[in-house]
Amino acid sequence: MPERGTADRGSVDRPSERRAAARTSVVWEALIPVLGRAGDVLDIGGGTGGFAARVAELGHRVTVVDPSPDALAALHRRAGELGVEVRGQQGDVSTLVQVAGAASADVVLCHGVLEVVDDPAAALAAIRTVLRPGGTLSLLVGQRHAAVVARAMSGHFGQALALLEPGVGGDQAAPRGGRRFTEPELRELLGAAGFAVDAVHAVRVFVDLVPGALLDLEPGATAALLELERAVSERPEYRPLATQLHVLAR
Ligand SMILES: C[S@@+](CC[C@H](N)C(=O)[O-])C[C@H]1O[C@@H](n2cnc3c(N)ncnc32)[C@H](O)[C@@H]1O
Repeated sequence: MPERGTADRGSVDRPSERRAAARTSVVWEALIPVLGRAGDVLDIGGGTGGFAARVAELGHRVTVVDPSPDALAALHRRAGELGVEVRGQQGDVSTLVQVAGAASADVVLCHGVLEVVDDPAAALAAIRTVLRPGGTLSLLVGQRHAAVVARAMSGHFGQALALLEPGVGGDQAAPRGGRRFTEPELRELLGAAGFAVDAVHAVRVFVDLVPGALLDLEPGATAALLELERAVSERPEYRPLATQLHVLAR
């Protein structure tokens, strides 16, 4: 469990934080035991530090590699507000080994990034190089079936149709809004990069479908929703319904 700070934000008061906690609680619950053994954590595409700063709060040495100077500036502001140190380095997955160094991380976070990189297979190969032997990759990606349903339900039928096809190949640019992956596609990509999958979790099965006002106004609704999200996260039959898949791999 967190030593200080509130990395597992299951009991927060502001509506926006409640919704954020509902979206990330399953990931934190899987991540915290893995982080327990880690010294160096590398967050690729860590952006403004939503994960990285809180991992630093837990006492780990955290480096964020991100191509966006604006995101890195926001990361430093966030870390400053929390009173933690996070190293920010401008770079991307294609320059990862040069920027971070080979075998430099015990845990690599790659959350919400595989969707937008030029070549997901090459990105995973680069991540493998910066992980120390026995290190763990925490991979969070958008799940395709749920994205197709969400687009169709909001009347964007053309976008839903376009998302039906994989589009994960190295020579295919990411579609507008980013790629989405199915579990078999992810497993194939990870296997090809030499990773063994330890666990797959369904993330955000219900939270994106629930009206925000319900969580804001109904006492106890967020806690009940968190319990439900946790309950289904380990059930394979719910993975095709999940907005995101979280994978732990070595
Ligand atoms: C959706 S945000 C995710 C941010 C953060 N990982 C999180 O989960 O909150 C995607 C991030 O990936 C970064 N990014 C885009 N292309 C990248 C690349 N080729 N290599 C590394 N990061 C990239 C963006 O700058 C952005 O910060």
